Amino acid sequence: MTPPRLRREIEERRTYLESPPDTVNIEFTGKCHMHPPCTYCVGKNGKDYQEPGHISDEQLEQYWPYMLQAQRVNDCTYGEFQLYPRHEEVVARLTANGVRFGFTTIGHLLNERRARFLLENAESLDFVVSINAATEETYRKYQGSGFDLTVRNLRRLVELNAELRPGKRPPFALSFIVMRGNRHEAIPFLRLARGLGVERVIFRHLFDMRVGDYAVRSFGHEFRYESERLDYKDYMALRAEVESSGEFGGMLIHFEWKAPESFIQEQAEPGVDIPCLFPWKYLCIRPVHDSYTPCCFMKKPIAKPSEASVAEVWNGEVMVGMRTELAAGKIPHHCRTHGDACPLVLESHRPQMLVQIK
Ligand SMILES: C[S@@+](CC[C@H](N)C(=O)[O-])C[C@H]1O[C@@H](n2cnc3c(N)ncnc32)[C@H](O)[C@@H]1O
Ligand code: SF4
Ligand code: SF4
Repeated sequence: MTPPRLRREIEERRTYLESPPDTVNIEFTGKCHMHPPCTYCVGKNGKDYQEPGHISDEQLEQYWPYMLQAQRVNDCTYGEFQLYPRHEEVVARLTANGVRFGFTTIGHLLNERRARFLLENAESLDFVVSINAATEETYRKYQGSGFDLTVRNLRRLVELNAELRPGKRPPFALSFIVMRGNRHEAIPFLRLARGLGVERVIFRHLFDMRVGDYAVRSFGHEFRYESERLDYKDYMALRAEVESSGEFGGMLIHFEWKAPESFIQEQAEPGVDIPCLFPWKYLCIRPVHDSYTPCCFMKKPIAKPSEASVAEVWNGEVMVGMRTELAAGKIPHHCRTHGDACPLVLESHRPQMLVQIK
């Protein structure tokens, strides 16, 4: 539930906020142990890619007050959260303070000790394990080695959950990016999840990254980004297949390619007609890549952590300007020029094109 003070500020269409961000997305590290990287991980496969470091201790100190005041913190690392040396401190401190915390992992580092630690903190925790395959052979094409290790870790995690938290759902979901080369394993993946005792799964799509002829040849398989992307209708066909199979009753299956509009809807407040509430509720802080962004669609930074504090950004010119235009029912100029695949921005471009044609 939205905190009362923030709800009031939204209702009053305030543009300068006393409330801090309610959701903080934050990057704790850029490091990943996958060498070579997963083939679909575009950033890490760049020719001149240099492995980034972790958030510094000074930066972490600066961001703690915001994380502790948020209702939800998500790690948005483009790497492995569990390689960040202070990851357990982050989980323990946030969850002890009732802040919900989420992260995503490839699952290789989820050994017995880490699994126990996560389960001990599971009341305010949810995480996602990316697997993208149902067999060793398909896993190898996209991620290389590690399928058996991941399955072993997952099996033990579910067993430990039953032991330590009897009657409670495992605090994680399995995710599967549906691509041309693994589409045939989508249903077997659901069976694998069910067999392991996992109750939540997420089907994703390859991000629209406009990477042109991006191709990598790791793991003896040529991965071509655009050829691996499926059409919306193919995803919908998978959804229909899952729903009509009658096989997976009781599992929670999310189809995330419906996401663009739903991300904005998730921020909406009953009775408030502001078209997008991201700038009132959310901030993404990427200290490793030196970027602040105000929503999940804008890729270009609105400011840099090396140059501006959260306070300066949260009530700075760009955020206040965005709130002012949104409160007046307009799609902000900044979003229209920097908002990439935001559905409201795409929609707002349409009438203008019609005017030009006329
Ligand atoms: C960037 S990863 C970082 C966390 C962790 N290293 C992992 O692989 O789960 C976060 C999520 O993005 C997904 N991902 C990576 N590249 C993607 C792409 N090009 N399109 C869609 N999802 C992608 C991963 O499968 C994972 O579920
Ligand atoms: S494990 Fe995650 S961060 Fe690492 S290469 Fe794979 S997708 Fe990228
Ligand atoms: S680009 Fe602007 S309008 Fe679109 S989601 Fe982001 S903040 Fe909202």
